[in-house]
Amino acid sequence: MQKPLIAGNWKMNAGGADGLALARALLASRPEDGAVDLVVFPPALVLARIAGLLEGQGIGVGGQDCHPASSGAHTGDLSAEMLAEAGAGWVLAGHSERRQDHGEGDDLVRAKAEAAHRAGLVCVICVGETECERDRGETLDVLSRQIAGSTPPSAGPLNTVIAYEPVWAIGTGRTPGLDDVAEAHAHIRATLESRIRGGKEIRILYGGSVKPDNAAALLAVADVDGALVGGASLDAASFLAIAGACLRS
Ligand code: PGA
Repeated sequence: MQKPLIAGNWKMNAGGADGLALARALLASRPEDGAVDLVVFPPALVLARIAGLLEGQGIGVGGQDCHPASSGAHTGDLSAEMLAEAGAGWVLAGHSERRQDHGEGDDLVRAKAEAAHRAGLVCVICVGETECERDRGETLDVLSRQIAGSTPPSAGPLNTVIAYEPVWAIGTGRTPGLDDVAEAHAHIRATLESRIRGGKEIRILYGGSVKPDNAAALLAVADVDGALVGGASLDAASFLAIAGACLRS
């Protein structure tokens, strides 16, 4: 197993003084043994200040999205280069809320991941089936298609992480059974190994309603190399309890 990675996706929350307070709380109580990698994805408005606060402190910072181009006439967008200049080392691409709310497809997600790599960022590429797709028995096909379409040739273990997030588990308090998580992660691992040199070492996170009380069980599943945490990452104690669960699993 790779070194576990616990990532906090703050989404459109904690974008001001509350975000700085959350970062300070993480700083005050984070584990200092380096056994788990931690990274937070705050709103872009507060990213530079949080990156300054956390610099050299063992907690990475990332953007929640980026545009494929490095600059240009793209009103409202941010480039991967801008995120890097602001102090980010990471970026999410293809989160299901971007895929759904902004109609992002695999081609665009792949271009964003390429942009992230060009700018020297680690890209967390998100994949996952909807509830209808699961009910129709299409989960593994959807994962194959999304990985093939969203993962660029530049991807490798040092610059890419895959987050498996069943869309129906995000923010709902519902999680798949552990056997289903194991099946999905084994399938993602096999897909990565067949497509990418070093695919065996790419970290695969589980995301979707990860909480302190279910984290140890989820993180103990084979090929689950960490978690992408939404709601529970907005509370420092919960986020750090999930990180602590890695060490117990
Ligand atoms: P959740 O969100 O933990 O609130 O379900 C996870 C995510 O969307 O990354």
